[in-house]
Amino acid sequence: MHHEPVLLTEAMDLLAPAKGEAVLDCTVGLGGHASAFLGAIGESGRLTGLDADAENLRYAQTRLSAPNVVLHHGNFRDLASLALPPQDVIFADLGLSSPHVDDASRGFTFRNDAPLDMRFNRDAGETAAEMLQRMDAEEISAILHDFGELRQTRRLAQALGASAAQTTGDVRTCAEAVFGFRAPRVLPQVFQALRIAVNDEIGSLRALLETAPSLLAPGGRMGVISYHSLEDRMVKVAMKALATPVRSAETGAVTEPARYALRTRKPVVPSEEEAKRNPRSRSAKFRVLERCLPQTDL
Ligand SMILES: C[S@@+](CC[C@H](N)C(=O)[O-])C[C@H]1O[C@@H](n2cnc3c(N)ncnc32)[C@H](O)[C@@H]1O
Repeated sequence: MHHEPVLLTEAMDLLAPAKGEAVLDCTVGLGGHASAFLGAIGESGRLTGLDADAENLRYAQTRLSAPNVVLHHGNFRDLASLALPPQDVIFADLGLSSPHVDDASRGFTFRNDAPLDMRFNRDAGETAAEMLQRMDAEEISAILHDFGELRQTRRLAQALGASAAQTTGDVRTCAEAVFGFRAPRVLPQVFQALRIAVNDEIGSLRALLETAPSLLAPGGRMGVISYHSLEDRMVKVAMKALATPVRSAETGAVTEPARYALRTRKPVVPSEEEAKRNPRSRSAKFRVLERCLPQTDL
């Protein structure tokens, strides 16, 4: 199985995992970034990995089998329930992995006809087909608008609602009936919207951004790679808020210094060379936050 880790050099430079450190990879996937983290922290470090996809996790296990590695099958939205000790590095590389796209039977791609599943975790939750059956046209339209950033979603939502779509081909047929020759341009957004909704990706990211920063040890670094503007905006806003000191409304003086600092003012993006070599990296944006060391009173 091949998956080239996105922004690997940049992640290693900015997150700088060091010998003996504790690293939490919230999206182990096929273990690409995690292998590099493990190499850097050595035998005295500790790697905790998490993935919603049991198949990816099984594969990662084969690459990451070491006594100082613990892998969990689960959603990073439930991070708090793992009761982890403070971490020196926390990392999330959001979204799809290569097998999700390459294995047509997962239902993530409109390029092949397959059951309309789209779940990262095939052991739980409803499939995209079940979700469409449960929703009315208004709900489907909101998903297409909010998560696919599509306009004029009403007719497609009605077509999807009425179609009882069971396969990726059924969704494609609906899009072609509504958008005609424009369908190929719209289909990636339609599939993105359904995938985000099925996996509640926005809700999961919100929970991650609320929980993970407080798990950082002083001096710890947290990095997130996102692949579309909805996610990047959430990461940007959350990190900026954490890195902003509290000021008095009257005097403007700082009343509480920020406990975090931004390590990236602007998102780090793939080099031209990486984007050419690995087209899947093209939309990647990487942001890093650091937990400040406690201020000592002299
Ligand atoms: C881009 S891939 C990660 C690739 C990995 N960095 C590597 O180098 O192999 C994203 C992974 O995150 C997982 N994932 C997505 N959302 C998740 C969530 N809310 N909780 C846990 N895992 C999630 C997917 O199943 C997928 O395996």
